[in-house]
Amino acid sequence: MVTRRTFLRGSAALGMAGFAPAALGAPLPFDPRSWSSVRAQFSLDPRAANFATFLLAPHPRSVRVAIARYARALDRDAKRYLDRQEERNRADQRVRNAAARYLAANADEIALTDSTTMGLGLLYGGLRLDEDDEVVTTAHDFYSTHESLRVRAVRTGANVRRVRLYQNARATSVDEIVSAVRRAVTPKTRVVALTWVHSSTGVKLPIRAIADALRSTQVLLCVDGVHGFGVEAATPRQLGCDFLVSGCHKWLFGPRGTGIIWGRAEAWSAVTPTIPTFDGRAFQPWMEGRAPDLPRAAAMTPGGFHSFEHRWALAEAFNFRQRIGRDHAATRTHQLAQRLKAGLAEIKRVRLVTPQSPGLSAGIVCFEVDDREPFDVVERLYARHRIVASVTPYANRYVRLGPSILNTPAEVDRVVRAVASM
Ligand SMILES: Cc1ncc(COP(=O)(O)O)c(C=O)c1O
Repeated sequence: MVTRRTFLRGSAALGMAGFAPAALGAPLPFDPRSWSSVRAQFSLDPRAANFATFLLAPHPRSVRVAIARYARALDRDAKRYLDRQEERNRADQRVRNAAARYLAANADEIALTDSTTMGLGLLYGGLRLDEDDEVVTTAHDFYSTHESLRVRAVRTGANVRRVRLYQNARATSVDEIVSAVRRAVTPKTRVVALTWVHSSTGVKLPIRAIADALRSTQVLLCVDGVHGFGVEAATPRQLGCDFLVSGCHKWLFGPRGTGIIWGRAEAWSAVTPTIPTFDGRAFQPWMEGRAPDLPRAAAMTPGGFHSFEHRWALAEAFNFRQRIGRDHAATRTHQLAQRLKAGLAEIKRVRLVTPQSPGLSAGIVCFEVDDREPFDVVERLYARHRIVASVTPYANRYVRLGPSILNTPAEVDRVVRAVASM
């Protein structure tokens, strides 16, 4: 087990200790209980109210400093740095430990990836399925789930079935969603592939209730968790799913190009790796002509050299968020989203798509404005009000806002006024 002290000693030996490039400026005091102090750790465009930071994360200062520090060590002498195989495993392990603390999970349950999409591709591509086994997914998931399952089916002939969980997002209920999952599952169903928070509508699925409904079955519950991860306080174990796949470069504000797969310890045996891991423990067995005996999550962490500076700085992102607190961040995000929905609901020409209930929604807020194309609304919000919004990347297009812990109530009110003025 590597302590922070021994890690720092290793870093110091590489001439990295205390490194802070001039471009990053002097460190700012950080008070994790003050939202303005949290925001000050980021270098957002000060003129804009950014409601799309969840698309591809800005980095807090501690992450920027760590990335620059690792990049410097690699630039100076990547060969010798990477030759210290032990050092590399140590840095990976430090990331897993930080992730495990944040997720209240075991470090051996966590695979490191580059994105949600990579995690979904590895998971759905690597699940062991027999000829008759069936995968149930839904009409509400993102491209990355659908496409991972489609190419899996092309490769091995897996049977994939798609169902609807609700007819009207805004009016849906826990009961409607759980009943739809229950109806969809047959004795042949081996996997249910869902998304925690739908980026198409903002609906948050009641994953715990779904897991409970599936408890008496052999079904593996696999969840694309990216729009709940860094928003909701629930840990994977509290959610009750078997696998939670997420990028860390959205609501968590981790380094761009990072992600995780968390799997319940007993569930990992259901999946085999696709990309050979570069875990140091794998090489000796290979040289001796044996298969490596690794925790499956380590074996599922794709090898090949990476943008290690981003991978390793992920530990700082988890530590930064840990200091703020999962509950504190969840409460703030929900407060802002509730305020936004309440304001938008008052505007006659607006039709909200996302449910009002915090039990069925998270940070994403989707809506339509009468007689206006969503792209037109997004353009106007930026051109006239310097508000950054996005359009849902689905066949049904809506305007989408993602209030996060970097936004303020005043910015939310600015959006409401801007939409009302259209
Ligand atoms: C539900 C959902 N899953 C996955 C992704 C892709 O995430 P990543 O960039 O981490 O692959 C997105 C959007 O970018 C999304 O909306």
